[in-house]
Amino acid sequence: MRVLILGGDGYLGWPTAMHLSNKGHEVAVVDNYLRRDMCREQNVEPLYETPNLHERVEIWKSHTGRSIGVTIGDLRDWQVVSEVFSRYKPECIVHYAEQPSAPYSMLDRRASTLTLMNNLEVTANVIFAVKEFSPEAHLVKLGTMGEYGTPNIDIEEGWLDIEHNGRKQKFLYPRAAGSLYHTTKVLDTDLLWFYVRTWGLKVTDLMQGPVYGIYTNESRMDPRLLPFFNYDELFGTVVNRFVAQAVAGHPLTVYGKGGQTRGYLNILDTLQCVRLALENPAENGELRIMNQFTETFSVNQLADFVAKAGTRLDISVEVKSIENPRKESEDHYYNPKHTAFQNLGLQVTPLSEDVLCEMMEMVMRHRDAISDGSIFSGKATW
Ligand SMILES: NC(=O)c1ccc[n+]([C@@H]2O[C@H](COP(=O)([O-])OP(=O)(O)OC[C@H]3O[C@@H](n4cnc5c(N)ncnc54)[C@H](O)[C@@H]3O)[C@@H](O)[C@H]2O)c1
Repeated sequence: MRVLILGGDGYLGWPTAMHLSNKGHEVAVVDNYLRRDMCREQNVEPLYETPNLHERVEIWKSHTGRSIGVTIGDLRDWQVVSEVFSRYKPECIVHYAEQPSAPYSMLDRRASTLTLMNNLEVTANVIFAVKEFSPEAHLVKLGTMGEYGTPNIDIEEGWLDIEHNGRKQKFLYPRAAGSLYHTTKVLDTDLLWFYVRTWGLKVTDLMQGPVYGIYTNESRMDPRLLPFFNYDELFGTVVNRFVAQAVAGHPLTVYGKGGQTRGYLNILDTLQCVRLALENPAENGELRIMNQFTETFSVNQLADFVAKAGTRLDISVEVKSIENPRKESEDHYYNPKHTAFQNLGLQVTPLSEDVLCEMMEMVMRHRDAISDGSIFSGKATW
């Protein structure tokens, strides 16, 4: 398949590009380095440097002989979008190109409006480009489990059957986002649903949980092919953060009671899920929604897991509850369904001490680069 990956320099975009290229697909990536710029602007650089996209594709080619097309450009700019779509004529599009951090989206007015404008404008441009240049293409869009919030009823995969005054209809499952970032994802879903109904587009919206890890079959080929590893409170996801805190000898920062429960997945399983979604496309006029996570954990369970793995490496890990900088429930019901990917054949990579120890060993090699200011700056408050 000809696959266009939007946000192909990102934590997930680059490993996805290599994975699909390795499977024999024709891959091109687009990115404007927004993520790199935001990290620099906030002084929360990833743990190690990563080559730029042009360098990455050269390194990839030197190992595999396979080419990946690169465009550096802003997908808010219609000129860039129309040029890329008319050049590559994609059969499928993986849309990762958004500002992905909840805490960043809550920093101040400027960061909030950047998140809002960037995420919605990119999604709108992509929808118009699919209609104009590739109306038969399958659009796979990354949403988040955070769109649902933490309701006191079971979470279905995207849709809910409602019976009201004796009549029935299926509706989008109610959304209750906990940050402006998550709200942009809710709005994205509404935009997609509107244009699926209006233009009969073929869309898969993936409600993904927080991802951890950096190792994939492809990124293991060369350390220069590894994705970013952020451990700061703006761009680091919780497992990656706890691993870095453990290695740095910093107490694991559990927010409040630590009962916040979410669905997590290994980066290996993100790649499998995206590939399974592409290989089993939605129908014309279908908005297919799948919950993309493999296991649920509370923050306390994750902290205990990391502490145990630390013991195996002779690292003594302290777990400390700090005042919760976010407005969120710390103790709640959480029962989200996630059978769609299992039905497509997903082979789950469970979280294990082995997985955590390998991540810790990697962080240990870069221990000197860990900045205390990044671990906890107190910026991520709302
Ligand atoms: N990482 C996770 O745990 C996670 C969990 C749930 C959902 N997601 C979603 O998955 C997607 C990818 O996440 P990620 O962690 O790889 O984030 P990331 O920031 O590393 O990747 C996004 C990429 O998109 C690029 N980008 C953003 N706006 C752009 C624009 N206007 N033009 C061109 N490029 C642009 C960024 O520079 C970045 O490289 C995001 O949409 C995110 O919301 C991620």
